[in-house]
Amino acid sequence: MNETAAVKATPTLPDAQTVTEVKHYTDRLFSFRCTRPASLRFRSGEFVMIGLMGDPDPKTGKQKPLLRAYSIASPSWDEELEFYSIKVQDGPLTSKLQHIQPGDQIILRPKPVGTLVHDALLPGKRLWFFATGTGFAPFASLLREPQTYEDYDEVIITHTCREVGELTYGAELIESIRNDDMLAELIGEGFADKIKYYPTTTREESPKMGRITDLMRSGEVFSDLGVAPLSPETDRAMVCGNLAFNLDIKALLEGYGLEEGANSKPAQYVVEKAFLD
Ligand code: A2P
Repeated sequence: MNETAAVKATPTLPDAQTVTEVKHYTDRLFSFRCTRPASLRFRSGEFVMIGLMGDPDPKTGKQKPLLRAYSIASPSWDEELEFYSIKVQDGPLTSKLQHIQPGDQIILRPKPVGTLVHDALLPGKRLWFFATGTGFAPFASLLREPQTYEDYDEVIITHTCREVGELTYGAELIESIRNDDMLAELIGEGFADKIKYYPTTTREESPKMGRITDLMRSGEVFSDLGVAPLSPETDRAMVCGNLAFNLDIKALLEGYGLEEGANSKPAQYVVEKAFLD
């Protein structure tokens, strides 16, 4: 067999990466880690397209990649990549992706983009991360990024989910950050004292219940955390959640006098839609 025939006989996935770890949190949520292409450079908070090969076309037998945008949940310095995903039983991609195991291959297009990056914000004193559901993912990256603590005195992360089990990924991540000696060496001793974590649920009993938007309107979040309401002079915000949430938070942030920024025009807050299948 000549070389060309050998290549044709062994089809490989384009941009394939190998899954190294999978963790399931609830019947709706899981996270996984995979190898990182040596050439992939990204800014913490950005997303890439990832996926699997789709089913063969019934007529041609050809398979096409099935790709979706996923925030990279690992920080830019990590040698592997981490993703946090919803599982939708009849979702085109996540109905398959939820079954991946270590050793399996996924497709990853190495073209990172996104607005939840430090470059899109003007300097400030306090940084707010507002997340619902899997919208926590880009903040899992930014919470492990040294620049977050170099640029801000305080980092406040709010995470609203329907049920308590959906907070586990975020809660475990915050806990691991607080106990990570390697991270303390990289970022600076005591860096984790800057983090204020504010998890809330809306459909299951937990210590703090309610949508974060309602808790901001009532002022409860500020009194609970012992901080002043947001102001354009001191506060910067990043938002990642479902569409309705993003729109509501945007209106609230504008009400506090913050303006939306972008990579090309840094300002006081930035927004991105969380991945939904
Ligand atoms: P709720 O249970 O009151 O709808 P989802 O799983 O549907 O993406 O929702 C994740 C979390 O975001 C839920 O706790 C949900 O609350 C909350 N949420 C949904 N829409 C909004 C919104 N417009 N403003 C604030 N929170 C929202």
